[in-house]
Amino acid sequence: MTIQLNINGQRKTVAADAGTPLLYVLRNELQLNGAKFGCGLGQCGACTVMLDGRPVFSCLTPVGALAGRTVRTVESLGSAIQPGRLQAAFIKHQAAQCGYCIAGMLMRAQALLERDPHPDDAAIRRHMEPNLCRCGTHHRILAAIGEVAREGQP
Ligand code: FES
Repeated sequence: MTIQLNINGQRKTVAADAGTPLLYVLRNELQLNGAKFGCGLGQCGACTVMLDGRPVFSCLTPVGALAGRTVRTVESLGSAIQPGRLQAAFIKHQAAQCGYCIAGMLMRAQALLERDPHPDDAAIRRHMEPNLCRCGTHHRILAAIGEVAREGQP
């Protein structure tokens, strides 16, 4: 079937089975390779994107359910040359080792900061809990998010 999507503020038309995971469409059809395949089971968060402002596991989100809804991926935050505010904080705090989880971390954190610009450390920890980093950089990730939360400008 043909599906109209709103991705990062742009209308995109893709041909896919309705049950195809959004992650596959992003990576294979739209060349938006920021979101990663980790577990495919909703257990790691590497595939996290924002759907209508909320973080979702794109590996579990069927593309057929997205008509009229708004998807944002890490590519909407900035670029290597011009990183967005949250991306710049991750770079400053060196909040990555292998980096595989980072696009998902950024999008889950971005969703929180857009809903609540000043979450306290406990709220940040609670919100980020579904996303895992196997390299163990969680403390740096939390520091980066905390810095942006104190400034209130995601
Ligand atoms: Fe989607 Fe792990 S790949 S949660």
